[in-house]
Amino acid sequence: MAAARGQFNSRIGFIMAAAGSAVGLGNIWGFPTQAASNGGAAFLIVYLILAFCLAYPALMAELIIGRHAHANASKALEQIAPNRPTAMLGHGVGLAGLIVASLILSFYAIVAGWMIGFGLAALLKLVGFGDAALWLESFSTARNIGLMSVFMVLTIGIITQGVHGGIERWSERLMPMLLLSLVGLTLYVLTLPGATEGLRVYLLPDFSKAVSPDLVIKALGAAFFSLSLGVGTMLIYGSYISDDEHLPSLGGWVTLSDVSIAVLAGFLVLPAMYVAQHNGVAIFTDNGALLSEDTLIFTVLPALFDTMGSTGTLVALAFFFLMSIAALTSSISMLEVPVAYTVENTELARSKVTWVIGIVIGAISTTIILNFDWLFGLVITVTTRYSQPLLGFMFCIYAGWLWHRNTLLQELKKNDPNAESSVFWKIWPNYVRIVCPLIILGIFYQSL
Ligand code: PHE
Repeated sequence: MAAARGQFNSRIGFIMAAAGSAVGLGNIWGFPTQAASNGGAAFLIVYLILAFCLAYPALMAELIIGRHAHANASKALEQIAPNRPTAMLGHGVGLAGLIVASLILSFYAIVAGWMIGFGLAALLKLVGFGDAALWLESFSTARNIGLMSVFMVLTIGIITQGVHGGIERWSERLMPMLLLSLVGLTLYVLTLPGATEGLRVYLLPDFSKAVSPDLVIKALGAAFFSLSLGVGTMLIYGSYISDDEHLPSLGGWVTLSDVSIAVLAGFLVLPAMYVAQHNGVAIFTDNGALLSEDTLIFTVLPALFDTMGSTGTLVALAFFFLMSIAALTSSISMLEVPVAYTVENTELARSKVTWVIGIVIGAISTTIILNFDWLFGLVITVTTRYSQPLLGFMFCIYAGWLWHRNTLLQELKKNDPNAESSVFWKIWPNYVRIVCPLIILGIFYQSL
């Protein structure tokens, strides 16, 4: 069994895959719009603090546990705390992560489907099929189910190809494209009239908005969501890392890429909003608050692109292409969680397992689409705001309290004989044991 396990072939391959998982709609859609409505740079600072002081240590817990066990989350937690009660609880935590990952994918695929739809619509406008484009841009059950299915099939297609041939190969192709189109688009938008107002809002902090307790819990959820934590995604990616790699720096690169792309996306999305306003598109509600986050991407930006004529159509194409890629490198990492668990616990072939699980998740998405009004928001809140931080808390408890410190050290020593005297070892074990759980509990307590 162990010999059949997939592995990332190179260091850069892992970084691309894990950064691909982390960088997604959360960075390019969620972060900039939250920053726009919550005090600009002030929110940015809260986010950076949470990313480096909480999310990075929690990410390290998942990567180290995963690499040590070379197994899925349930098995890995059982292995590091083998006494019966903690092993059973560990198995349960892994399973809960698997369910949450699947539920996240079920709403994520709907939103990602819209991105594909708006991209296709731009393409259709270019070749003169305005009616079809309009259909793709208008909210309907048929459109939502159709586009979600297209996106799920793409995700399934990559995951059937395995860790090296699927996840690693595709991340290595898609991530450079994502970075290039993001930088190109940002530079372009910054030249347009109105962009400087957006920069001003982004870079001048308004602390009165960024420190409310409600906001901090949102930022906590956002940080866990952004780094794909708590659901076993990073643990399973960690389990595919070879023993020769230096984990603390790999985790550092992943965190840094994730944060940089979010910050960069802020330089695109906030200026674009104000360019839109400059062109006469409404971006504020009557009482001066920002229009809601979903409205921003699906009405404000398309309206902006429309004011720019055929250049706008090209820009729209590039923008939604970028969003679709970002979503795809994340969705594959969500699907990998239930697929890896099932493949490792049965004798079934990977491709069959992937299709069956993909179709089940597609059916959950369809249920959400059919009950969109109440179910969509509910699934997002339950999974990202509460489940991810709470499960992340459990991973910290396993790494910090239930795992033998010496075994942990041996894991880090595999490629770094001096791990014991490293800065990482001096700080991280106690940090993940005490500080991370306290921060998570503290934020939860405050939000109640
Ligand atoms: N990190 C991804 C994003 O920012 C979302 C994600 C969450 C991916 C959980 C995998 C697991 O969009």
